[in-house]
Amino acid sequence: MKRKLLITGGAGFIGSHVVRLFVNKYPDYQIVNLDALTYAGNLENLTDINEKANYTFEKGDITDETFIDELFQKYHFDGVIHLAAESHVDRSILDPLAFIRTNVMGTAVLLNSARKHWKGNENGKLFYHVSTDEVYGSLGEEGFFTEETSYDPRSPYSASKASSDHFVMAYYHTYHLPAIISNCSNNYGSHHFPEKLIPLAIHNIKNNKPVPVYGKGENVRDWLFVEDHARAIDVIFHNGRLGETYNIGGFNEWKNIDLIQLLCRIMDKKLGRPEGTSAQLITFVKDRAGHDLRYAIDATKLNKELGWEPSLQFEEGLEKTVDWYLSNEEWLQHVTSGAYQQYYQEQYQKR
Ligand code: NAD
Ligand code: TYD
Repeated sequence: MKRKLLITGGAGFIGSHVVRLFVNKYPDYQIVNLDALTYAGNLENLTDINEKANYTFEKGDITDETFIDELFQKYHFDGVIHLAAESHVDRSILDPLAFIRTNVMGTAVLLNSARKHWKGNENGKLFYHVSTDEVYGSLGEEGFFTEETSYDPRSPYSASKASSDHFVMAYYHTYHLPAIISNCSNNYGSHHFPEKLIPLAIHNIKNNKPVPVYGKGENVRDWLFVEDHARAIDVIFHNGRLGETYNIGGFNEWKNIDLIQLLCRIMDKKLGRPEGTSAQLITFVKDRAGHDLRYAIDATKLNKELGWEPSLQFEEGLEKTVDWYLSNEEWLQHVTSGAYQQYYQEQYQKR
């Protein structure tokens, strides 16, 4: 079936992988990528598909009601995959209101336009919201987040994502807006902005700069290769059940310090440095405020219902990621010039 899809946040890390997958896999679909091009949005992420006939870029802000309404009028979307968001926990601690504006208001504006535009004609439509496992809060040493776990967000970022999830379900129940949510664990891979742990560490190791590890490095995250996340979104978008939530995870838990040690070994190998060189850069710094101890996802529902599973082992995915950063020097240079330096100073100077 020919479809008209709005993908928001397609110039960001995960969004660019989702746009690439859909544009290449579904030549019959008309894909519109809407992105405000904040510090995290970068059209260089999409140079390989920019010229494709089934792809259009629209620059705009999801909080702009008039603009979003006009976009629905212009393209008559029958599907939305919503990824646009402020996505970094540390920035949400510095400026929580920006997160409420984009993640809560922006999602509500999109939901409202979809509701108005699809009213009485909901059949075959879908509003798919891409969310995070962080809405579930923090785990102790044991247990996993399932789709039944109660929401317990603890950072301004996760609170804003939890709130946006609630609005999606409120529109599903109140207005019968066809909607699905997925909640995914930490992603890693190419085109990841170097404010997040893995790309930041790669960038610093390469430049012989200290690698900041918060607290004692004992916090645990579940890591998933970004292309596996994009594949999961494809499967859920096409075959997921309306009104459902799907957890997506890598069955791949790592303590931050163990992950960084592994990354240091890979970097030593790739850069031809004697083993142990990069690990000397590890620097323990002041912990993040309200730092969630552990995230772990039980993705059994997605596996059982829709047959999805991660495709890569972590070491393999991490090597691929390092290779990409080492051979895309120019990309890294562009995103780390200007405003990045100012953020880095503010974030790490006093730690
Ligand atoms: P990102 O920060 O790399 O990209 C976000 C994109 O949204 C950028 O291109 C930015 O320009 C755009 N954007 C921001 N505000 C906007 C606005 N007001 N209007 C229009 N566009 C705007 O984020 P990401 O890591 O790719 O995450 C994408 C989505 O996936 C987010 O919703 C995030 O909550 C979710 N998620 C991320 C992870 C992860 O590990 N990164 C894990 C699970 C879920
Ligand atoms: P991050 O990549 O910011 O993702 P999230 O906070 O959404 O999980 O951080 C991953 C983990 O790494 C988290 O426990 C915080 C930690 N961390 C550091 O130790 N040092 C850093 O410089 C950063 C950015 C994160």
